[in-house]
Amino acid sequence: MTRLKPPARKIPPAVADQAKLKKTSSVNSQNNNNNNHTRQGKLQMVLILVMAVCMGMTLYVNVTSTSASNMDMIQYSAAFHQAIEDFRQGAMSRKSTTTTSNQQQQSSKQQPVLGDSLIAKLSCEPHGGPADEFAQEMIYWEDIPSDALWVSPFRQKRGEHRRYMTFEPDGGGWNNIRMAMETVVGLAAAMGRTLVLPPQKQMYLLGKGDNKQKRHFGFEDFFPMQQMAMENAAIDMITMKEFLELEAMTGNLKDKATGRTSFPPYNRTDWNGLSGMEYDELREWLRTVTLVPQWNPEKCLAAFPANGDHSSVQELIDMQQTIHKEGIKIESYIGNPVPVDGPPIDRMKENLNNRRDLCVYDEAMEKEMVVHFACAHKLGLRLLVHFYEFLYLEDWKEDLWMKRFMRDHMRYNDDIQCAAARLVHMMRQLARKNGNPTGEFDSFHIRRGDFQYKNTRIPAEEILTNIRQYLTPNTTIFIATMKGTSPSLNQCESTTIYTSWMTLRICCRE
Ligand SMILES: *[C@@H]1O[C@H](CO)[C@@H](O)[C@H](O)[C@H]1NC(C)=O
Ligand SMILES: *[C@@H]1O[C@H](CO)[C@@H](O)[C@H](O)[C@H]1NC(C)=O
Repeated sequence: MTRLKPPARKIPPAVADQAKLKKTSSVNSQNNNNNNHTRQGKLQMVLILVMAVCMGMTLYVNVTSTSASNMDMIQYSAAFHQAIEDFRQGAMSRKSTTTTSNQQQQSSKQQPVLGDSLIAKLSCEPHGGPADEFAQEMIYWEDIPSDALWVSPFRQKRGEHRRYMTFEPDGGGWNNIRMAMETVVGLAAAMGRTLVLPPQKQMYLLGKGDNKQKRHFGFEDFFPMQQMAMENAAIDMITMKEFLELEAMTGNLKDKATGRTSFPPYNRTDWNGLSGMEYDELREWLRTVTLVPQWNPEKCLAAFPANGDHSSVQELIDMQQTIHKEGIKIESYIGNPVPVDGPPIDRMKENLNNRRDLCVYDEAMEKEMVVHFACAHKLGLRLLVHFYEFLYLEDWKEDLWMKRFMRDHMRYNDDIQCAAARLVHMMRQLARKNGNPTGEFDSFHIRRGDFQYKNTRIPAEEILTNIRQYLTPNTTIFIATMKGTSPSLNQCESTTIYTSWMTLRICCRE
């Protein structure tokens, strides 16, 4: 494979793309000669551009025997640039409005209005397109108005002190952060606790780029947390600042070891935009004034007795013991799932998978004013799990509610959905132009940054050989892939293609 030298000086994007296209076609003509492709598969690979939603780098490859002209490609790549630029701008200009509106919400948590869900709809016109008729295909969620009214049977009763859940976001990459956050939201809903959103902080690999990019993120930058809380009786959220003002500065938090009133470090309530060290101070302190459940999703299933009835905790434990005696053959569930309304013990058995224990929400835990989910790898505390793998609600209706809630409300903000919708729309147009009347295209997520999984780093030609059987001739392909990493980590020959957005490193074994 030809080794391509990066351009020596910085060149404007359009020119860079053109340079890249030329280089790419020279690489590919060589591939064609070497690999003796079949007639139809005489693939001409044209690498185009790229969009990065958050940290995923995305690369578009057109596999077609006749490609669109370079002009077309440049036009499309410019649109891709635009999509990501819009997202960045949006993230920068979006202000955290959670505080004020939540304060209102808190004083008078209104009953959600049936059929009035903002999250249910998607209109991309205020977000730079595409037109509504194209945006609609992004909607995978549903609006089920009666779901808005469900409340956990564990929610504090009238006259009882409000109960909270605080948590530490996962320290991994964005998808891990998202998974753990969903699990926490699910736990807060199941316990009927007010979820305290962490302060805006740096997230691994997000905002590492140019200095103008936003660097501190809260979940409200990605998900409609505020609407989620407004539109669902089950969900209550406040910011860390509000929580500290409301409960810490008023002396309601006690050091668990000494029983004495404890104030946050420096009496600080606003921790937004904090550095890693400051964050450590805050979370170390939170761990001292809260109950930190030792719940390890690899070892246990988080179980919630039906109807908030603690007397049935023992029944749950009995079920678990019966299951443990019988043993679980997880293969027996493949293609043969337990019905959603199946008996609690059958559902528990399937959900336990290979875990032995239950982590039960018992009376002692319910009494705690604040439970805190820590992310401490050394202590085995990390909620790196899908919510549906970890949460078990004995009442099948509540369990189903939880799954619908995640599907219907835990979805990305409109501007992110719309950035994706623009790409899908553009891909469909391009696919039509490439001869597919329905605008169908294929897409791949090719991870190259997983250095603990070295066997994933195979040459591009090998990937192409492996996947070709799944592709229709003349199909149009969208590839999401990762940014190249430090050359020292790559013990192989590499081809590097520089664009204004990314470095794509194609590893070759010889
Ligand atoms: C923090 O605030 C509390 C309550 O106003 C006060 O008693 C305490 O001395 C303050 N601590 C510091 C370190 O300022
Ligand atoms: C692929 O596209 C080219 C050019 O449009 C066309 O001539 C060819 O028949 C197509 N091949 C298939 C298998 O559709």
